[in-house]
Amino acid sequence: MTESNLEEAIELIKERKKEAKQLKGEEEFGFVDSQQDEKITTPQKIKGLARTVRTLQRKPKETISKFDKKTFDPGFMQRHTREITYHLVRKELQKVGLITDLLAEINAGKEATIYLAHLNGAPLIVKCFRHHLTCHKSARGNPQLRATAFAAKEYYKLLRAYRAGVSVPTPAKQINNIILMRFIGRDWKPAPQLRHAILGDPLAVLEELLEQIVILYTKAKLIHGDLSEYNILIDQHQHPYIIDFPQAIDLNGYQMQFTQKKERNQKVLQKDLKTIYHFFETKYRLTFDVNEVFHHIIGEKDYQERLELEEIKAKRI
Ligand SMILES: Nc1ncnc2c1ncn2[C@@H]1O[C@H](COP(=O)(O)OP(=O)(O)O)[C@@H](O)[C@H]1O
Ligand SMILES: [Mg+2]
Repeated sequence: MTESNLEEAIELIKERKKEAKQLKGEEEFGFVDSQQDEKITTPQKIKGLARTVRTLQRKPKETISKFDKKTFDPGFMQRHTREITYHLVRKELQKVGLITDLLAEINAGKEATIYLAHLNGAPLIVKCFRHHLTCHKSARGNPQLRATAFAAKEYYKLLRAYRAGVSVPTPAKQINNIILMRFIGRDWKPAPQLRHAILGDPLAVLEELLEQIVILYTKAKLIHGDLSEYNILIDQHQHPYIIDFPQAIDLNGYQMQFTQKKERNQKVLQKDLKTIYHFFETKYRLTFDVNEVFHHIIGEKDYQERLELEEIKAKRI
């Protein structure tokens, strides 16, 4: 081997070493041959991907099967989400002999539907609470029981008011979510709501109405809570009838013990009075002293107690 040959060989070895070192460095820092990359990583990726795809496929399947069982089973639908229909109410009430026939739907509010019915030729009102109340905060639990509870509440408050002598439609019967009551109207035409009634003597109506609110509070121990021109019917003799009681506040029992509750209830009463005031003031230019009527309704003792409470509150501020 000549000297130049040796030099060439050394150069070659050096170059090879350099190349090897470079390759090692690249491997260490993750610069891997693209071909190798495909060989190693692609199958792993696909394997993982396949797993994800499988899980994705499985998840909706599971949800669908639960969905099927609980929501889309027709039996379940019938038992729990079946809505009250005209035919259903008619069939049920005819079956128990409470009506001869259902004649027409008068009103469909957010909680109940009102039907006109007749029993052997005499008109009757059927108020049927729906199982599904929309956007109602108590819309939880068993819908059928909830509707029944609403009907029971209205029926017993209506009965209390009626027995105390307030002019309300006479309650006749409650079964489940349905209540039957006297029809207010004439010749099968329901009496108009206060907002639609043409009053010959609005002052007489206002006075009678305030009198009714006094009896409702003092004798029936109830505050209506939703008193307005919508929930007062005017009969053919221009007498006002108060309707729609499910939200009425029952004053029996707790009102004497809890000041806070008492205060809240009194606010509800004031709100009812203000609504009536506002209606008569805007439509008939008739006014009354809300505070004076309020004082008269709750009585001297409660009124003084309230004044003292307000004084204490004012001092605290
Ligand atoms: N006893 C009744 N006689 C005649 N019409 C009635 C009677 N009860 C209700 N109505 C009619 O149905 C409407 C709604 O009744 P209401 O008890 O206020 O139910 P809702 O809870 O839907 O407001 C009333 O405004 C009235 O027109
Ligand atoms: Mg109403």
